[in-house]
Amino acid sequence: MDGIQLMIEEHKTIKRMLEVIRSFCLRILDGKEVDGEDVFKMIDFVRNYADKHHHGKEEDLLFKFMTEELGSTAEKLVRNGMLVEHDLGRLYMRELEEATEKMIKGDEEAKVDVIGHGMSYYHLLQRHIDKEDGMVYKYGEDNLSKETIERMNRETEIIEKEAREKGLQEKYEALVKELEEKYR
Ligand SMILES: [Fe+2]
Ligand SMILES: [Fe+2]
Repeated sequence: MDGIQLMIEEHKTIKRMLEVIRSFCLRILDGKEVDGEDVFKMIDFVRNYADKHHHGKEEDLLFKFMTEELGSTAEKLVRNGMLVEHDLGRLYMRELEEATEKMIKGDEEAKVDVIGHGMSYYHLLQRHIDKEDGMVYKYGEDNLSKETIERMNRETEIIEKEAREKGLQEKYEALVKELEEKYR
């Protein structure tokens, strides 16, 4: 299994959910009725698929190996760039969750915070994914040793298999589809 190629594919699924978040925000802006409970589904996807499953593989495999094997340039790129952005994404999700709880309780003003935090996450992740697809992954792929790439691919396979047994990929791919159909 090609671990890097798989993560590029996962980016496509994550970007589809980003478009759902954007469409949801647009609905609020248009003054339409929205179902706040759907935001919790989006947050669940972000936390368990985009963050735990996908960022988990970056942090525990590719980025870890790059930091260990490729010297200070790679270490700076990973630590000050990618990992900082993963953390910022987690903060936006906590803020989005808080704002959504308020909105559901009838706080009209909280709608602007839902839009703000949702769109902050949207733009952060768009830029983040573009950097990984266009530069960071390639840097790792071109410079890590063949043995390390093979180790990463083997470990990716184990993670994927365990997740598949729990139905994780299937669950979140279905969730993207469900929300896309609702918010397209
Ligand atoms: Fe990342
Ligand atoms: Fe990524």
